[in-house]
Amino acid sequence: ETLEAQIKAFFDSAPPLHSSDEITQKLNQFIRHNSSSSGNGEARRIVCVTSGGTTAPLEQRCVRYVDNFSSGHRGATSTEYFLKAGYAVIFLHRRGSFQPFCRSLPDDPLLECFEPTNDSNIQVRKAYSESVKRAILDHHTAVAGGHLLKLPFSTIFEYLQMLQIIAMSMRCIGPRAMFYLAAAVSDYYVPWKDMVEHKIQSGSHLLDVKLVQVPKMLSVLRIDWAPLAFCISFKLETDSSILLNKANAALEKYKMHAVVANELSTRKEQVVVTTGVEKITVRRDNSESANDVENPLIKLLSERHATYIENSSW
Ligand code: PMT
Repeated sequence: ETLEAQIKAFFDSAPPLHSSDEITQKLNQFIRHNSSSSGNGEARRIVCVTSGGTTAPLEQRCVRYVDNFSSGHRGATSTEYFLKAGYAVIFLHRRGSFQPFCRSLPDDPLLECFEPTNDSNIQVRKAYSESVKRAILDHHTAVAGGHLLKLPFSTIFEYLQMLQIIAMSMRCIGPRAMFYLAAAVSDYYVPWKDMVEHKIQSGSHLLDVKLVQVPKMLSVLRIDWAPLAFCISFKLETDSSILLNKANAALEKYKMHAVVANELSTRKEQVVVTTGVEKITVRRDNSESANDVENPLIKLLSERHATYIENSSW
């Protein structure tokens, strides 16, 4: 079976998105807004950041699913730096994963950051006043300026359908578009038509579920959906000895402009960016206050993207 046939089978059998018209409308409006050179200067570059893990449901009325690990920290943090670098960001994220501007807040921000006052009002606790203010202001600036569009997914079906809609909508901006694919995407799934409707009953010794390989959509994204966009994918491994080879293989196979290689246990300290001709180690700079590895990473990618736009004949 060819890749095209596998991809067609995947989309044909996927449960249709509930709100695809609404999503398309939001996207078109967002892209138009960030492409007008009137008012506040020139058209912005637009990046689609994917973030968090996709689920592969085991039942149509889903109680159980197979999940891919990703907290969403990479995507959320990167979104902040892309916004700082002047990009408009489409944040395609797993529902409930880390969100931009909320990283410095505790796990239960509502309960931990606020306290009642004597006159039964609510105020921000002193210890959190700076971080709460920063988070709210930065988020407000991005949203009010129309530079941040958040789109949530849970399943692999939602993720790939949304990625396709986004890619198609971004075609009209050519090389000004970037894809930064940090989401951890299911490699195996149960096709919708093979899936039982109701909750699988326990009792049997062995749970027999057949998972089929998810067709890799990276090359279709690159070649068909968004041929002019600047495309960055990620490679995650737990065995560092195979990481760089796997990253280079992905670069070649999917014709990415760069692959960011990271090892699970050190992913917050350093990543390696491979472009085919170069292999650049990017480390977090502990002497700076904003000391995330995403800070130098987004600087590097934003520069490369600028060069890419300059060199394109579009
Ligand atoms: O979220 P954090 O906790 O901060 O962790 C960040 C991270 C480690 C999850 C992130 O930095 C990362 O490496 N993300 C990609 C992890 C991954 O699943 O790699 P992969 O080898 O499965 O996939 C490689 C690329 O192919 C990815 O860009 C993925 O989006 C894409 N893919 C994968 C499968 C598939 N069927 N289609 C795809 O397009």
